[in-house]
Amino acid sequence: MNSEAEILKKIDVILEEALKGLKNSRNLTELENNFKVFSGKKGELSLILHSIHSFSPEEKKNIGSKSNFAKKTIEDAYLLRKGELIAVEKSGKAARFIDLTIPGPSIEKIHAHPITAVLEDTVSFFSSMGFEIVEGPEIETTYYNFDALNIPANHPARDVWDTFYLLNGLVARTHTSSVQVRTMERKKPPLRVIAPGRCYRYEAVDATHLFMFNQIEGLYIDENVRLSDLKGILEATVRHLLGAKKTRFRPAFYPFVEPGLDLDIECVFCGGKGCGICKNTGWIEVIPCGMVHPNVFKYAKIDPDKYRGFAFGMGFDRIVMLKYNINDLRYLYQCNLDMLTQF
Ligand code: PHE
Repeated sequence: MNSEAEILKKIDVILEEALKGLKNSRNLTELENNFKVFSGKKGELSLILHSIHSFSPEEKKNIGSKSNFAKKTIEDAYLLRKGELIAVEKSGKAARFIDLTIPGPSIEKIHAHPITAVLEDTVSFFSSMGFEIVEGPEIETTYYNFDALNIPANHPARDVWDTFYLLNGLVARTHTSSVQVRTMERKKPPLRVIAPGRCYRYEAVDATHLFMFNQIEGLYIDENVRLSDLKGILEATVRHLLGAKKTRFRPAFYPFVEPGLDLDIECVFCGGKGCGICKNTGWIEVIPCGMVHPNVFKYAKIDPDKYRGFAFGMGFDRIVMLKYNINDLRYLYQCNLDMLTQF
């Protein structure tokens, strides 16, 4: 007949052996067998409990609680090893559950959206020339979007910039030029600012038109700003952004500038020979610009006899298309990773 102390010791031994056996089981069958030996109905632990009926209640209690603890510990070890073996079987790999030295899955390198990348590049380029960044609202009054830009209510130019009118009389701004007068009201010249942001037009969407797009407005005002400053700065801009070597300025009409111009670059797709994209002209229009109209100065309460300035408004979705050779504007807004990760 074993004493209480002997039985308790025996439980310790069973527990130790069981844990070793379970841990070393190399497959599920082995595991099940080992588990049965120690813990099943006919396992060693149960046999011990059957042999203690002659013990005192106090002794039974001690042995019972120790064997329950052992049973629970063995069950836990069994379940843990079972999980490991199932995982190993599934992955068909060697029996090693967690190996902290295995390098983790590689994290894909990410980068900014092409529009953001070009925007950041443009902003830092202009910052390097002393231009400050300003912003204005996308939902704008007709005053800042049209009137203050020398486009009165009855002027046909409002048709060119048709947009979404809100019920309260505000509009989705058609260009970042609306930030011009807002800025001049707040800051007195000399001033050098760029205003990037979203603009809206009443357009049927196709490869080269969207009802929402991005522009960067530029405004430079001082006592002696001349057309040659405009030319120098904008030529440097297209050289920086697009590597453009050949450029030309054409006269153009925008009510808020006089004279008004369009800056063209030699077509980057055909090298000036003429192709579908440049409509066989060999040139692509990139930056509308001009010298600030005296009427705009008057709206902004700046003396047109004292100050001069130039303004430009470049659609930078367009710049992104040219830079990365993308032939459909809509790709830029589809959030398609196959497309975006190419850049
Ligand atoms: N706001 C004009 C447009 O969106 C572009 C422009 C800006 C032209 C500044 C001249 C000067 O079409």
